[in-house]
Amino acid sequence: MKHIRNFCIIAHIDHGKSTLADRLLQTTNTIADRDMKNQALDDMDIERERGITIKSHAIQMDYTHSDGEKYVLNLIDTPGHVDFSYEVSRSIAACEGALLIVDAAQGIEAQTISNLYLALENDLEIIPILNKMDLPGAQPEEVTDQIVELIGCRPEDVIPASGKTGLGVQAILNAIVERIEPPKGNPDAPLQAMIFDSVFNSFRGIIAYYRVLNGKIKKGDRVKFVNTKKEYYADEIGILRMTMEPRKEVLTGDVGYIISGIKKANEVKVGDTITTTANPCLDVVQGFEDVKPMVFAGLYPVDTDEYEELRASLEKLQLNDASLVFEPESSMALGFGFRCGFLGMLHMEIIQERLEREFDMTVITTVPNVSYKAYLPKENEPKIVNNPSELPDPSKVDYIEEPFINAQIITKSEYIGQVMSLCIEKRGNLKNQVYLTQNRVELTFEMPLGEIVFDFYDKLKSCSRGYASFDYHPIGYQQSDLIKLDLLLNGDPVDALSALVHRSNAYELGKKICLKLKELIPRQQFEIPIQAAIGAKVIARETIKALRKDVTAKCYGGDISRKRKLLEKQKKGKKRMRQVGNVEIPQEAFLAVLKLD
Ligand code: GTP
Repeated sequence: MKHIRNFCIIAHIDHGKSTLADRLLQTTNTIADRDMKNQALDDMDIERERGITIKSHAIQMDYTHSDGEKYVLNLIDTPGHVDFSYEVSRSIAACEGALLIVDAAQGIEAQTISNLYLALENDLEIIPILNKMDLPGAQPEEVTDQIVELIGCRPEDVIPASGKTGLGVQAILNAIVERIEPPKGNPDAPLQAMIFDSVFNSFRGIIAYYRVLNGKIKKGDRVKFVNTKKEYYADEIGILRMTMEPRKEVLTGDVGYIISGIKKANEVKVGDTITTTANPCLDVVQGFEDVKPMVFAGLYPVDTDEYEELRASLEKLQLNDASLVFEPESSMALGFGFRCGFLGMLHMEIIQERLEREFDMTVITTVPNVSYKAYLPKENEPKIVNNPSELPDPSKVDYIEEPFINAQIITKSEYIGQVMSLCIEKRGNLKNQVYLTQNRVELTFEMPLGEIVFDFYDKLKSCSRGYASFDYHPIGYQQSDLIKLDLLLNGDPVDALSALVHRSNAYELGKKICLKLKELIPRQQFEIPIQAAIGAKVIARETIKALRKDVTAKCYGGDISRKRKLLEKQKKGKKRMRQVGNVEIPQEAFLAVLKLD
C-alpha cells in the first residue's frame, strides 16, 4: 500500500487533460510510443471528435522514483462536463490526490473551480499544474497568482508544464509520489470497495471499475452490490492497464475491475459498495446517489414505420448507459415515439448522435424540458410532469414546482453587465459575486434549470465573447408561476410544440415563437395561421402566406432532368418533415423555442 498512489485530473474542457495524461502514460512506458494514439484514454469516436472525455476510465502505471523505489500510480480519469458531475464526484472520492490542470493562456474556469471544491471536500492533495506553457499567449505569472489565491499554495508548488513539448512531466510524476498520500485502509477488514464507473462490453457484459477501500477481492468470491442488493460471482477480476489484466486478487488501496456476467447497466450503479456475502462490511461507502435524469425530450422516428426499430436502438443504448431512461409516448402531431430522460443537454446530444451513427436512425426531437411537479388539491403526492402537454388542466392544479440550480459563472469583469442581464432575464437571482483576480469575477446565481435547457449556453457565450465559463448544481424544487403555452397551426394545437413558461414571459415568448415558426415552416399551397395560446386565449398570431408558384414551374416544359433534380431535392428536404394535419413541419420548427433571438 505504501507504494500505491491514486490520483485524478481536474481540468476545464480543453485545458489539456487528455494530452497530459498521454504524456504520463508514455513517460512511464505504459504505452509504447509506436502504439501512441492521440488521447489514448478517449475511446469512443464521438469522444475523440468532441475532445471530451465522457466516460471515466482508470489506468495503472509503474514508476520508478529517483529514490529507487517502484511505485504503482493509478490514474482515474474524470469526465469534463457538468452533465456528468456525479460521476466526477465518485472518481474524486476514489483518489488521494488530484492534478489541477490550468491552461496558462486561459486561466481558471468555472469547471475547474467546482471540481476543485469537490476534491477539497474529499481531502485530496492538490498538485497545481500550469499547462500549455509553450503557447505564446501563456501568462504564467498571472495564472500562477490565480492558482495560489484559489488553493492557498506557494507559487513554487505550481508546476509549469506542457503536454505538447513534455515540459514538466517528470516533475509531475515526482510530485505524485512525494506529495500524494498512500492509500489508507485495513487489509484485514471485510471487503469494502467503491464502484466509480462501469462500461458495457458486448461479449463480457458490464465491467465495473472500483477502488478497494478495505480488505481484498478475490477471483471467484461471491460478492454483493450493497445498494442494488444484487449478488454475483467475481468471475474475473484484475487491474487496468492499456488492457484489462486479470489477477487472482486485488488488494486494499488498489483500483481494479470486476466482470460477473452482468447484462444490464442499471444493475451497476456508480457509487455503490461491493462487499463479499461471506464476510460483509458493516458500512456502505458514503456519497451514493441514484442519479436521475434532469432533461426530457420526445424522440420520434422520422419514418413512422421505424418505431420498433427506435425502441430496439434505445434499449441497446441503455445497456451501456444506465442514465438514459425512456418510455413510450404518443403525440397527436408526431405519432408514436419515446419520452427520453437525459442527465443534461450534452448527454441528450450524445444520445441523438449515437442513434444516428450507430443505429442509422433519423429522429425528430422535441424541445427539451425539465421535470415539473404539479400539486393537485387533496392529493399528497405531486404529479410528475415530464412532458408539458401532460400538465393537468390548470384550473385543477394548486401550484407547480420546477427544479432550481446554483449556477456558477466565471467571466472577465468587463462582461459582468451583460452576463448579469442575461441571468436576470433567465429568472436568475444573484447570490454571490467574488473577484478571483482584478479582472476575473465569479458570479453565483440561483436560477431555474428550465431556463438553462433553453438557449442559455449560446447566449452566455455570445454576450461574453466566449469569455465566460459555466457550471451548475441542482438545489431542489421551488414553486414557480408557470403556465402552459400552446401553439396552434391552422387552428389545431400541436402538442409537441407546447412548453411550460413563466407567466411573466408568456406574451413575449408567444410572439417570438410565432415569428420564428413563420420563418421555419415553408410556405404551402394554402395560408397557415400560427397562434400562441394560453388555455383558450390566443395571445399572438402570425400568418404564413400561401405559396403561389409551383417550384417546377420555372423549368419550362422540356428539361425533364432538371425537373427531376428539383423534385429530388424537395424530397430530400422532406426527410425531417412531419405532416401535422395538413401542414408540413420541418424538424427545426419543433426546436423553435431554442432559437429565439
Ligand atoms: P477534454 O477532454 O475536452 O476535457 O479536453 P482536454 O482537457 O482533455 O484537452 P485535450 O488534451 O484534448 O487538449 C485540448 C486541445 O489543446 C487540443 O487541441 C490539444 O492539442 C491542445 N493542447 C493540449 N496540451 C497542450 C499543450 O501543452 N500545449 C499546446 N500548445 N496545446 C495543447
